[in-house]
Amino acid sequence: MPRHFLRDDDLSPAEQKEVLALALRLAEDRFAERPLEGPRTVAILFDKSSTRTRVSFATGVAELGGSPLVMEAGSSQLGRGESIADTTKVLTRMASAIVWRTFGQDRIEEMAEHASVPVVNALTDQFHPCQILADLQTIAQHTGGLTPGDRPALAGRSLAYLGDGANNMAHSYLLGGATAGMDVRIAAPVGHRPEPSIVHAAEAIAERTGGSVLITDDPATAVRGATAVITDTWVSMGQEGESGRGEETFHRFQVTEELMELSGGIFLHCLPAYRGKEVAAAVIDGARSVVWDEAENRLHAQKALLTWLLRHPDEATAAHARPLDRR
Ligand code: CP
Ligand code: NVA
Repeated sequence: MPRHFLRDDDLSPAEQKEVLALALRLAEDRFAERPLEGPRTVAILFDKSSTRTRVSFATGVAELGGSPLVMEAGSSQLGRGESIADTTKVLTRMASAIVWRTFGQDRIEEMAEHASVPVVNALTDQFHPCQILADLQTIAQHTGGLTPGDRPALAGRSLAYLGDGANNMAHSYLLGGATAGMDVRIAAPVGHRPEPSIVHAAEAIAERTGGSVLITDDPATAVRGATAVITDTWVSMGQEGESGRGEETFHRFQVTEELMELSGGIFLHCLPAYRGKEVAAAVIDGARSVVWDEAENRLHAQKALLTWLLRHPDEATAAHARPLDRR
């Protein structure tokens, strides 16, 4: 059984630290790891648009010594109705890992069931775990980097996410932030709160790591003293036609200069950003913004993840298997 990375809690707290420590090292020494030398191929599939994920995975696989195979779903037989199982059985005979951006989490879970190589979630409707690894790396870099034990210093720090609390980013901050031992605060309109099962999962993780979880509809409560203030688009891919996703619902949750003052921390955004909507231009283009470091860290974090997954086959899966009822 290979290790997969389908959601943020597929890495235990100790494992997440190992991946982040490697990501921080790769940011300093870019060609230090070559696990894909051969070159071995990594299949990178997209059912949705992408700029950063596409470029960072393609570049990262090449820098690890491998060969990236980037495919649009529409140009593969998957897009014409070939089953996920059949597609996966073919890919897994040739590729050393599969990276997929798709819609429902059930689709990537199904792929993982049929794959004998690691499957990596490059964004689903429910989670965006690779982005959170890059974001945690960015917070560590800007707030202390490595501790003496060569571990990223994140435990006890806080992240405040404002906006659509029910989207993939909010869910991944809950799980990934709690895994890192952080205080995760989500400020969202009442009708756009995170999935309760994800909140409960994050609370259970936080109990073990010393982190905490707060869900509120008050942006000021969330950002006060926060190490990092974060937001994301109010309209995720696939939600374009939905009503009630505009300023009338979300205007109180725009990240403004006033809210950043209240925080005193750094600003992150996974991008693409919509200035004047979820974030004021003066914030994302201002001195507290670390969004370009964050975008670059997609490269380092994903290289670290792929390196780690390829080095940790089955015995580790048994040690940290997610309960089947959460799949
Ligand atoms: N942040 C992110 O995943 O960007 P892309 O959609 O451009 O890949
Ligand atoms: N929540 C956004 C993230 C984009 C990287 C979306 O799913 O469109």
